[in-house]
Amino acid sequence: MRRKKKLRIKKKPIFFILIIFLIFGSILIIKKTTFKTNKEIKLNELNNIDKEITYFDYKKLDRYIKYKQKNKSLSNKEVVMDVNIGIDRDYYTHTKPSKNLNTTIILVNKYNYLKKNYIPKNLKDVSLKYSRSDMKLVGEAKEAYEKMAYDAYKQKYRINAISSYRSYNYQVNLYNRYKQKDGIDAADKYSARAGYSEHQTGLAIDIDNGKVDFNNFESTKEFKWMIENAYKYGFILRFPKDKEKQTGYQYEPWHYRYVGKKAAKYMYKNNLCLEEYYVKKIEN
Ligand code: DAL
Ligand code: ZN
Repeated sequence: MRRKKKLRIKKKPIFFILIIFLIFGSILIIKKTTFKTNKEIKLNELNNIDKEITYFDYKKLDRYIKYKQKNKSLSNKEVVMDVNIGIDRDYYTHTKPSKNLNTTIILVNKYNYLKKNYIPKNLKDVSLKYSRSDMKLVGEAKEAYEKMAYDAYKQKYRINAISSYRSYNYQVNLYNRYKQKDGIDAADKYSARAGYSEHQTGLAIDIDNGKVDFNNFESTKEFKWMIENAYKYGFILRFPKDKEKQTGYQYEPWHYRYVGKKAAKYMYKNNLCLEEYYVKKIEN
């Protein structure tokens, strides 16, 4: 008799605890199904695009929402891409030092800068056969450029480098000259401020055909050749016409950037500029 009583006393608290768990569990389930969290509401507003793309950044959720409200015509993918590039913020604000220094996928733009003392490793002179005097590129880019210019030459096209590596101080003077000539707003559309020019990476090159002014390079047969072939040598047209928003610069038919063959082919085939490639393939 005594043993039975003891057992009953022991069972009671277990039963009691189970009931409490059940009640709290049900409350939680009801709450979850009835009231959505703030985060869930925001993700819903973006049509749960986070499930579809690899480059969604939950830390930027509030910026996505704010940018979407201001740019109602954009798709959710475009919203995420633009914010990840940084376009929701003014140029030259929230800037960061560029990562991947001395690699071919380094990104330098109005949000990512190079320090004053950054000089790329392994700068080499470009052959005078394919350039003005004193043109320097990083070794790998120089080799690729000369091969491209030589192959073009064999097909009767003349590719001629008119600007390549520029030091920080060189860019200071260049930008200031443009600013004085055209004013800051116009200058910012075609010239980078010192530290923000990818010419400082030693991977960028401006070209003409040795006859027509570089501003009219688009009208030459060499331009057409470059558009069809540059990617095969690892170069991309860095500031395309349809990517002014993403790059932050007006169209520059003469400016090419070495990124390596694999990256160049990917960007060419998928119509991506470097900013978009960076968000899709490098940052994440
Ligand atoms: N013209 C390009 C944007 C530069 O100044 O680097
Ligand atoms: Zn250039």
